Order: sequence, then structure tokens, then C-alpha cells
Amino acid sequence: MLELLRDIKMTLTKDQNRFLAEWMDFLKIPSVSANPSHNKDVQQAAKWVEDALKKSGCPKTEIISTPGHPIVYGEYIKDVELPTVLVYGHYDVQPPDPIDLWESPPFEPVIKKTEIHPDGAVFARGACDDKGQMFMHIKAFEVMLAKGSIPCNVKFMIEGEEEVGSDNLEDFVKRNKEKLKCDVILISDTSMIAQDLPSITTGLRGLSYMEVSITGPNRDLHSGIYGGAVLNPINVLCDMISQLQDENKKITIPGFYDKVIELSKQERSEMEKAPFDLQELKKSIGIDDVDGEKGYTTEEHRSIRPTLDVNGIWGGYMGDGAKTVIPSKAHAKISMRLVPNQDWEEISELFSNYFKSIAPKGVDVEVITHHGGYAYVTPISTVGYQAAHQAYKETFGTSPIPKRGGGSIPIVPMFEKELGVKSILMGFGLDSDALHSPNEHFGLFNFFKGIDTIPKFYEHFVKLYRQ
Ligand code: BES
Ligand code: MN
Ligand code: MN
Repeated sequence: MLELLRDIKMTLTKDQNRFLAEWMDFLKIPSVSANPSHNKDVQQAAKWVEDALKKSGCPKTEIISTPGHPIVYGEYIKDVELPTVLVYGHYDVQPPDPIDLWESPPFEPVIKKTEIHPDGAVFARGACDDKGQMFMHIKAFEVMLAKGSIPCNVKFMIEGEEEVGSDNLEDFVKRNKEKLKCDVILISDTSMIAQDLPSITTGLRGLSYMEVSITGPNRDLHSGIYGGAVLNPINVLCDMISQLQDENKKITIPGFYDKVIELSKQERSEMEKAPFDLQELKKSIGIDDVDGEKGYTTEEHRSIRPTLDVNGIWGGYMGDGAKTVIPSKAHAKISMRLVPNQDWEEISELFSNYFKSIAPKGVDVEVITHHGGYAYVTPISTVGYQAAHQAYKETFGTSPIPKRGGGSIPIVPMFEKELGVKSILMGFGLDSDALHSPNEHFGLFNFFKGIDTIPKFYEHFVKLYRQ
């Protein structure tokens, strides 16, 4: 470890060194929830988390198996009269693909400096989303417990299916409301604006994830013998996809916007006050220009507006060289990010009906819904938000900014519906940390700042709760 840190300026305490080593050990487990060939690794990661909870001093832990991946649960009950914080996080990670684009192997964590992370960042799949951010909570708990400063009850619920839709966690929550009873849910699985500008996520988008298949001829055909006379399913698919948005980037599915809540001018101008550097965003992802729904800003496009994106498209010949063929089938995965009040099941149905309605004669269309979730918003007046605000203010020396996020954590609105409890989204990562992309990383500064900030949340939450 010292070897790795030799040219990193940050001086770490003995405990910090250990925390870092443990986190890097955790990152070696390829707990890819989407890929059944990694089931054993996912189980090993669950065991690792349970052991980590035990080592941190958590007196009661268990691994709860589900029809999918296990849930890790831990509990520290100080006094039933005291408030309870439920920490949620996930130990599963996205697939590392495309592997070729990683500068170091995704499950062999290394520390490297970057322009934004001069103190160094750990590079590995899951470094930020969400192993690193979730692990901060276990370490913050350990620190508090060692100091005798935990002011309330703490429950941990760490799942292994967030990246695939949290289906089994949803069932678990519905059946275990008493066990999960709490006063606030604390989550670090979002980002903040910049290293010197913390923010608290006050909203998440919903999601509806679809897959479409177009079938034309009953077999792949010679494109010379049949070409020009029959519909090519890939051409048809592209044509249909292009009809899903108009020239103003509005989604054309009838009824799609019916339930969207338009924000007032005042709310929008309030939101615009959050610092945002468009040049920096373009530079960081290597594009010359941005584009999006007419009438809205880039920040609005990626937070308060619903969107439609093709995530993957395939069919026909995809091997080396060339093959002249009209494929029998074409496929695409299409997702829609939704905003508060849109019902994802309804949107999935609207999509499905519309997509089928625009298909030309001569092809068959199949549409399936993979998964979905509702959007989430929280006011900044809650005790939880105020406690988070105070916590960041103390450790960063500046007030955090409330900000609606563009990503989705479908279990968050579910918690609100089933448990009647709001979640506080205290993210410590940066959007540029390459979540879901090759070379994902999480800064050492961010990791240790998180471990310092979390105990302050507990302290302020309990204080404010009593008032
Ligand atoms: N942690 C992310 C969500 C996130 C990241 C929210 C950054 C805000 C800022 C989470 O793990 C995630 O990736 N969620 C998925 C949804 C899920 C159903 C696959 C997403 O947003 O695509
Ligand atoms: Mn996540
Ligand atoms: Mn994710």
C-alpha cells in the first residue's frame, strides 16, 4: 500500500491506510449482477460486505437470500427511543465492457492521479458506483462506534441487484416493513458538483427500459437476390426509431408528456443558479456541441426533462469483413428517463402501442419491458436534508447546493411509498468519475471526505430530530 501511495501527496493515518486497503480488496470481486456467470462472485461480495459490517463492530448481521442476489442486513440498536437511520447501498456493479478501453484491468484496482484528483483516485469497476460510496458508510460507522459517538440506531441494507432493477429488494421491503422501520434513509450513490462545491441530490429520474425486435423474412437472405424487394428489418428498425422523436427532440409517443409536471419560471431560474460549465462538460466527454429538447437548457435536459435513448442496436452480420445479407431480425434496447408524476408502467404501454402502430406491413414487431421505476423528489425543508446540509458545510467549509439528478435509483421512490420515509442522497462522487464507463474511479479525497462527513450527518440529524 505504501508503495502505491509513494507519489501521492495526501498523508494518511494508519486507519485511513487500512480503510483504503480494505476498499481495494473489495473492488477485486467482480460482482456483476447482470451476468449469471458472475453469480458466485456476487455471493462472495455479499459475504465480504457482511464480514466488513461485523469487523466494523455491527452487532447483528445477516445475509438474506432472495430468488436473485442476496441482501446484506445489519443492525445496531442503541435505544428503541432514539431515531433510526437506515443506510442503503449496493455491492453489485455494472458489467466492465468494453474491456479493451480500460487502462488497467477493471477488477485489479490501482491508484492514479488525474487533473481533477491530484491526491489520487482508485480505478476499478464499482470504485464509485457504489462500492466505494457504500463502504464509506461502514467505515464511518466503525469510526463512530470506536469513539462511542453513535447518537442513534443504525440499520444497513446493502443489496446486490441495484444495477438490474432491484426487483427482489422491492419484495423484501414490502414484506419487512417492521424490520426496516426508520426515520430517515441515508444513501451515497449519486454525485456532487465539484471537489470544492458539494451538492445534495433532491431528485432522481424514473426509468422505463424496453427491448424491441423486428422480424422480416423467415431467414437471412442474399441481398442481391432479394435486395430492394423486401423490407430489411434493420432499415425498418432505424426508420421506426427515428420516428420516436421530432426535429425539436420532443418524444412523439402520444400521451408521453401528459403527466409531466412543468416547473415554474421561478423554480427554473432558481435551479439555474447552480454553477455549471458547459465547456468543461463538452471537454470531459470529447464532444464539440450538445443537443437536446428545444426550449430547455443542458442542465434541464439531464435532470427535469424526460428522454428517450437507444442503448444498443444489433442484427445482421456483425463479424469481421463484409457479408451481403438481408437479416431476418433486428433488435434494439431503448430506455426512457422519466420525471415526477410519469407512471413508468403506463409509459411502457404507451411506448409499446405506439411502436407497434408505426411498423410497416411486412414485418412483425415484438416489444418487451425489462424494468422500470418512478422518479423521486424531496423538499429541502426536511430534518434529513438540513442535517446533510450542516454536515457538508462543516467538512467542506461551504454550503451544499440542492440539485436534481438525472440518474435513477428505483428503490428510492419505492422506500417512500412502502415505508413512508424520505431518502437523503449524500453523494460524494463526481459525474466525471466514469460511472458505468471504462476507467471508473473514485477520488481518495472524496472517499475520506465522505467518511468524515457522514458522522456529522448523524450528529445533526439526531439534534434536529429532537427539536
Ligand atoms: N448510482 C446510480 C444512479 C445515479 C448515478 C444517480 C449518478 C445519480 C447520479 C445507479 O447505480 C444506477 O446506475 N442506476 C441505474 C438504474 C438501474 C435501474 C439500472 C441508472 O440510472 O441507469
Ligand atoms: Mn449506484
Ligand atoms: Mn449504477
